[in-house]
Amino acid sequence: MANAQLHYEERGRGLPVVLLHGFPFDHTIWQAQLDRVGEVARVLAPDLPGFGASPLPPPEPVIDDYVAALAHWVDALDLDRFVLVGHSMGGYVALSFARHYMARLAGLGLVCTRPGPDTDQAKENRYSLINEVWDRGAEATVDRMLPNLPAPATQEKHPEIVDQVREIMRRQPTGGIVSALWAMASRPDSTPLLGNITVPTLVVSGADDRMIPQEDADLMAASIPGARQERISSAGHLPMLEQPDALSDLLRDLAHGSRTAPDIPEPPPTQDIAGVRTQR
Ligand code: MLT
Repeated sequence: MANAQLHYEERGRGLPVVLLHGFPFDHTIWQAQLDRVGEVARVLAPDLPGFGASPLPPPEPVIDDYVAALAHWVDALDLDRFVLVGHSMGGYVALSFARHYMARLAGLGLVCTRPGPDTDQAKENRYSLINEVWDRGAEATVDRMLPNLPAPATQEKHPEIVDQVREIMRRQPTGGIVSALWAMASRPDSTPLLGNITVPTLVVSGADDRMIPQEDADLMAASIPGARQERISSAGHLPMLEQPDALSDLLRDLAHGSRTAPDIPEPPPTQDIAGVRTQR
């Protein structure tokens, strides 16, 4: 696959912790966590296909195309078992990765994300945004999404964070944005998977998140056996930027808990995606 090699940044040593960004961002959103979590673990933050410097996914992709790219990439890096953390769209990819390759995971972090598929209304919104993005590029995502990303208090007190998010959004390629909108609209329902997650799991929400309702975090935490749930105050949809130390501390704990977890029960057999080699 052309996108076997994702662009990424890496820090530290020890248990690998892979951080997947949300939509429409790139790996730089995790800068603080690369530094802080990188003090206690080997942290790798890739650009998902079509974002940052990573190549585009195939035309009209599905979420499993992003999972396949991730599986190729972790294989190429010889990451046998690792902690996978996904923010929002990155969480959709992480849950689908878990469905196919649970045995590769040492831990799972679900940050401001949800397990369910799009409603019909949400799909319509994505298709109309696709048309706008073809017309106006990334600026259309800035206009549509930025006002709802950081918490109102962040917008008021930290305009520099708003500026940073705008810059990250503006530099994303049109093709990558459109591809991700298309894939998110058809993503599968991961709710039935939740009870089968066999690794230490952290569920994080932002107390002032206006993109993802708190009920989604509550559902995931209640359904995943033994999951730890944390709600970060004074944060909206972007706790990695709005409360970087609080999120980093939680991810450090997750890395520690995943390293020291007793041997987990054998997960269900993996269901390989056609053409994707896995090491286990
Ligand atoms: C994200 O941050 O990845 C998006 O808000 C997810 C979505 O649009 O469903």
